[in-house]
Amino acid sequence: MTHQSDLIADDIEAYLDLHENKSLLRFLTCGSVDDGKSTLIGRLLYDSKLIFEDHLAALESDSRKMGTQGEKIDFALLVDGLAAEREQGITIDVAYRFFSTDKRKFIVADTPGHEQYTRNMATGASSADVAILLVDARKGVLAQTKRHSFIASLLGIRHIVVAVNKMDLVDYREEVFDTIAADYRAFSKDLGFSDILCVPISALEGDNIISGSDRTPWYDGPTLMHHLETVDVTDGRQAAPFRLPVQWVNRPNLDFRGFSGTIAQGTVKPGAPIKVLPSGKTSRVKDIVTYDGSLDSAVAGEAVTLTLDDEIDISRGDVIVTVETPCEVADQFEAKVIWMAEDPMLPGRPYLIKTANKTIPIIVTDLKYKVNVNTLERLPAKTLDLNEIGICNISLENQIAFEPYGDNRDLGGFIVIDRLTNTTVGAGMIDFALRRASNIHWQAMDVDKTARAELKHQTPAVLWFTGLSGSGKSTIANLVEKALIAQGRHTYALDGDNVRHGLNKDLGFTDADRVENIRRVGEVSKLMADAGLIVLTSFISPFRAERRMVREMMEDGEFIEVFVDTPLEECERRDTKGLYKKARAGLIKNFTGFDSPYEIPKQSELHLKTQGRSAEDCAADVLAYLERQGYLSRS
Ligand code: ADX
Repeated sequence: MTHQSDLIADDIEAYLDLHENKSLLRFLTCGSVDDGKSTLIGRLLYDSKLIFEDHLAALESDSRKMGTQGEKIDFALLVDGLAAEREQGITIDVAYRFFSTDKRKFIVADTPGHEQYTRNMATGASSADVAILLVDARKGVLAQTKRHSFIASLLGIRHIVVAVNKMDLVDYREEVFDTIAADYRAFSKDLGFSDILCVPISALEGDNIISGSDRTPWYDGPTLMHHLETVDVTDGRQAAPFRLPVQWVNRPNLDFRGFSGTIAQGTVKPGAPIKVLPSGKTSRVKDIVTYDGSLDSAVAGEAVTLTLDDEIDISRGDVIVTVETPCEVADQFEAKVIWMAEDPMLPGRPYLIKTANKTIPIIVTDLKYKVNVNTLERLPAKTLDLNEIGICNISLENQIAFEPYGDNRDLGGFIVIDRLTNTTVGAGMIDFALRRASNIHWQAMDVDKTARAELKHQTPAVLWFTGLSGSGKSTIANLVEKALIAQGRHTYALDGDNVRHGLNKDLGFTDADRVENIRRVGEVSKLMADAGLIVLTSFISPFRAERRMVREMMEDGEFIEVFVDTPLEECERRDTKGLYKKARAGLIKNFTGFDSPYEIPKQSELHLKTQGRSAEDCAADVLAYLERQGYLSRS
């Protein structure tokens, strides 16, 4: 796989080298086959007459070898749209094509147009500067056009071309075109586009694509190609304050230490004072190093290596910025998230995000609402499903330097990664930082955990019993607690049924509610361990992700996962609470083991197989473990 993608990359590099001095424009085409999208792309490729047949043939055959479907060429491995995402191995149906004219070279991202393909379009749009929206002259602005516009706007595209196609089928009538153009401008006025060109075309006949058409004498704007060749998409990025997200620290020998990456914004010159974020350390640029010697300056979009006057600590993911106008640093954000996975996004569950070369643990602290992509209506939501877009608050484990996505895609965009499967599950855009925690510091107390634990002569611990309903968690935990109390230990038991009467009264049994249930219980257990107690919790806690989250909240060795392993049939046979009977009869929804999953522990400290054994024996196993591991030796 790697070998073949290397092949493609080499071919494209050779191709791009040939056209090195021309600027590159990335654009996206939106519309369905019915709107004439394929015809338009075909015509642009064909009429530009500069496709290198050999290259295309080579790429086509490589694409085929790699299992790409149809005759589309898969440049996805090469184009650096959500590059990190491809590293994460998500399959996104986006085809990229190259062509070139005398003035510019182009990369076209082509994505399927249906609603369920939001994630595909988002992937294509994330690296595009211009979106061409195809509108059928006979149909006008459709829900689909609006949806595409919204996603384009969300992904930071500022330049829109409304290609009113099939003008031949409406006799090239000016009023048809004018109505569509006016409709579109009215609809899109709040989407933040900096320029909108409406152009009447016939992809089939070639009108106003490469050359102007005498069938539309009333149209005095540019042809589609002329516009693509000349539209300025730099959007003031070079004049904006300097930002360089460090991709890697280049240290070939002890005498050289360079910081490499692509300039996300602004201009840099040797001698310029800089600051490194989030650390805040300062220095000056010594040199801008390239293979061909040093540079006098470098601008946004260029890949550079900087050396500095001082030896300061900089690592991958740090951002080097200008001292005068540094960017903000924060660890809590409001962000838009496009969900790209079959499993829904669950607030409270830990995920990773990857942003500007840094991977950081996060949790979604709140899903404020989701957006209907057809109507832009805000809808209340507890989870986000595949292809849905939500506005979330997220909390990061560490601070990052950032820019709002609307100002800078490189410093404001991120992908969301599942912690257990390591796959990409979403893409996000930072709107702004939340100031929630920035003025709340952790209060250091004179009396700490050690003092409290010493007074109790014990080692704080959390015994986390997990297993199906009726597996015996509470029974065993109760016996263990009685034995501990008899030894003079200080304990507390948290039990699912009990906590759900108070603290977690508002939670039911959906996946999202179970995640929140465990998150809260985790936080409470952590406080109790801090109080010096030995905590015993009995919760089904069916998901690995949350059990792991709680484990990571505790100090090393403090979390003891006890898997109470009783087969479903046995739990159902016992049915102490009569719940299995009800679940069988369809009276209880989302019942664990029936229509709600239980993920078997993979890293439990203790695995209690209860069948054929008494609860007392199982409790004795737990006590023996505590003894063996030294938890019960008096301090
Ligand atoms: S958890 O999944 O969020 O960890 P928790 O342990 O708090 O669940 O609560 C489980 C208890 O709630 C069960 O032992 C059972 O008594 C009761 N219960 C009621 N409805 C359900 C359900 N749909 N699924 C599982 N347990 C349920």
